[in-house]
Amino acid sequence: MKITILLFCFILPLALADFKVGFYDSSCPKAESIVKQVVQNRFKRDKSITAALLRMHFHDCAIRGCDASILINSTSTNTAEKDSGTNVDVRGYDLIDEAKQTLESACPSTVSCADIITLATRDAVGLSGGPKYGVPTGRRDGLVSKMEEVNIPGPNSPVSVTSAFFASKGITAQEMVTLLGAHTVGVAHCGFFANRLSSSQGKPDPTMDPKLDAKLVKVCEARGDPSAPLDQKTSFVLDNEFYRQILANKGVLLIDQELALDTRTKGFVTDFATDGDKFHRSFADAMVKMGKVDVLVGNQGEIRKKCSAFNKARN
Ligand code: HEM
Ligand SMILES: *[C@@H]1O[C@H](CO)[C@@H](O)[C@H](O)[C@H]1NC(C)=O
Repeated sequence: MKITILLFCFILPLALADFKVGFYDSSCPKAESIVKQVVQNRFKRDKSITAALLRMHFHDCAIRGCDASILINSTSTNTAEKDSGTNVDVRGYDLIDEAKQTLESACPSTVSCADIITLATRDAVGLSGGPKYGVPTGRRDGLVSKMEEVNIPGPNSPVSVTSAFFASKGITAQEMVTLLGAHTVGVAHCGFFANRLSSSQGKPDPTMDPKLDAKLVKVCEARGDPSAPLDQKTSFVLDNEFYRQILANKGVLLIDQELALDTRTKGFVTDFATDGDKFHRSFADAMVKMGKVDVLVGNQGEIRKKCSAFNKARN
């Protein structure tokens, strides 16, 4: 009883006041428009920034919640999340640094790096033809970033493993299917799907459409570190085309293809493939929910001055 009163009278209202849409309206009224401007400028010359930010946001929220732990640079005493194998291809750090620099001159030590990632991702989604939506802000930046804590499932994990991972963050199977719809933009490097191709030494994946297989085999013969679009049709548009592609066996990553084959997820895939507006609404909701995972609020954590380093050196 006492605990309930405490929760409802003090703790809950406090947490709500500290984490809401428009959190910076009085402390830094230009916060959201500054971020938006930086994203717009970048988007004009690089449409792939949307994919970069979506992936960064997910990989941030997946470890210790959305606390910008992914932005920390390693030091001589600490190997940070950024340097885990899972995060090698994460990009867009320079955009976050650019927004932070502008925000620091407008409102020093006020806007968290965790909120910058969230706002920038939201803005990029809107610019790419995705839904426009409000996101709560008031996140604080975390004080820990360790490579060994990065435990995001790989692209060849079965649906059971992937959905258990999302469930551990309070995200349902339907929301997982919605969030993986982010693979309607962006690319994957061959190392993540080469095992599925007919050129593979192991067992190629018979579920892949033969034409896509032939195309990807070619792509992956190139030198360097080649990559292929995750969505074969509208790789720069945040639409429901991804779901149609996987229903046609044109998923590049195994995890994507599995969504269309597994009985636990197939229904959601068919639903989104036929109703683009429903996908957009669900995507906005699921992104807001992902952005709430284990956030630090109030006086927890800190507001970093530079997104790539803690304010005080730590191990
Ligand atoms: C456990 C589930 C997931 C797995 C296994 C997974 C795996 C991958 C892999 C292997 C890539 C290729 C990266 C590269 O080669 O550069 C990728 C790219 C991407 N992922 Fe995911 N992903 C998952 C969930 C998500 C979620 C929830 C989002 C966002 C809401 C997301 C957004 C993206 C985007 C936008 C790209 C393209 C990145 C770029 O073009 O740089 N992914 N994902
Ligand atoms: C973190 O690393 C990046 C890239 O190597 C660099 O540009 C940035 O200045 C570093 N941040 C700090 C605070 O040293």
